[in-house]
Amino acid sequence: MSRTRTTSDVLVVGGGIIGLVTAWRAAQRGLRTAVADPEPGGGAARVAAGMLAAVTELHYGEETLLGLNLASARRYPGFVAELAEATGGMDVGYRACGTLAVALDADDRAHLRELHALQTRCGLASEWLSGRECRRLEPMLAPGVRGGLRVDGDHQVDPRRLADALVVACERAGVVFHRSLAERLTVVRDRAAGAVLADGTEPAAEQVVLAAGSMSGRLAGVPEKVLPPVRPVKGQVLRLRVPPAYAPFLSRTVRAVVRGSHVYLVPRENGELVVGATSEELGWDTTVTAGGVYELLRDAHELVPGITELPLTETRAGLRPGSPDNAPLLGPSALPGLHLATGHYRNGVLLTPVTGDVMAEALTTGTLPDEARPFTARRFSPAHLEHA
Ligand code: GLY
Repeated sequence: MSRTRTTSDVLVVGGGIIGLVTAWRAAQRGLRTAVADPEPGGGAARVAAGMLAAVTELHYGEETLLGLNLASARRYPGFVAELAEATGGMDVGYRACGTLAVALDADDRAHLRELHALQTRCGLASEWLSGRECRRLEPMLAPGVRGGLRVDGDHQVDPRRLADALVVACERAGVVFHRSLAERLTVVRDRAAGAVLADGTEPAAEQVVLAAGSMSGRLAGVPEKVLPPVRPVKGQVLRLRVPPAYAPFLSRTVRAVVRGSHVYLVPRENGELVVGATSEELGWDTTVTAGGVYELLRDAHELVPGITELPLTETRAGLRPGSPDNAPLLGPSALPGLHLATGHYRNGVLLTPVTGDVMAEALTTGTLPDEARPFTARRFSPAHLEHA
C-alpha cells in the first residue's frame, strides 16, 4: 500500500458544494488547500432544486437560523458574479424570480396566514394575495387556489451548475483534489492531522474540515463525542422539461403544503422544471419509489394541472444532512485542528456563500465571525445542554 504523505494547510473532507466553497475561499486567502472526495461536485447538490428560500421556508423557533439564511441570500448576487469571474464566465443559473407560496384549501390557507404573521413579525417582505391575484401572476395555477404569499426576495440557483463552477474555481485557485474517499481521520497527539483515503494515501494537514454532508456523522477516527449529530434525510426530486411552445409555463417558484407535505415547482430559464421533494427518514436509502414519484406528481398536479403534459426527464433521490435543530454546524469542534461545515439540512444551497466566508475566516484567523457563533457544535455538547 502506498503511504504517500502530502501536506497542506487545510484538508477538506467532502467535495460537495459546502466543502468546495470552503476550499475555494480558504485557497483565495492564501492557505494551501486540498479536498478529498471521489467525485468532487457530487453529493446532495446534484439532486437539490436550488431554492434560496429564506423567507418561504421560515419556521417557528428558527429565527437565529433566519439571520444566517438572510445573510447568505444577500451575498448571492456578489458571490455569483465573483464565481463567474473566477471561472472564466461560468453561469450558475442564478435567477432573481421570487416565489409564490399558495394554499389549496382552508387548512392550507390558515397555515399560510400563520406563516405570513411570523414573516411580518420578523420584518420580512411578504404580501398576501387572493386566489385570483395568484392566478393573475401565474396563470397555470389551478382554479381552486385559495390565496397565497408573494415573496419577491426568495430566488433560485442551479445547484449542479454551482457545483461544477466551484470545482473549476477551486482548480484555478490551486486547490489539490484527492479523488478518493476519506476513510479515517488521522489524529496525532490529540489533534486532527489529515486523513487516510481509500486509495491508501494519507494527506496530512494543519487543519481538517469535515464537510461530508449526510456522511459527516460517521467518519472513522473522529472521537465519539466529537462526531457531529448529522443524519440523512431522503428527498426525492423530479425533473420535467417545458417545451418552448409551452413557455413561459411558470415565471417564479411556486410552492405549497399539500396534506402536510411540501411540494415546490422551480422553473429554470433553460426550460427545466424541478419538482420536489419528499422528506423521508430512511437512513441511507436513495431508492426512487413509485410512491414518492406518485405523491410529488399528484401534489404538483393539484397546484398546476398542466404539468401532466410535460415530458418527465429525471427522477432522483438525495440525502439532506439533517441536524437536531435543522441548523448547520460551523467552525471549530472539540478536537483541536478539526473544523465542521455540515448539517445544512434544507438550506445547503442557500447557505453556500456565507459558509465559505465564515469557514475561511475561522481557518485563517482562528476566529469564527459573529454571525456564525450560534452555530458551533458546542450547542450540542452535554455540558452546554445541561446549562441551557
Ligand atoms: N429546501 C428544500 C428541500 O430541502 O427540499
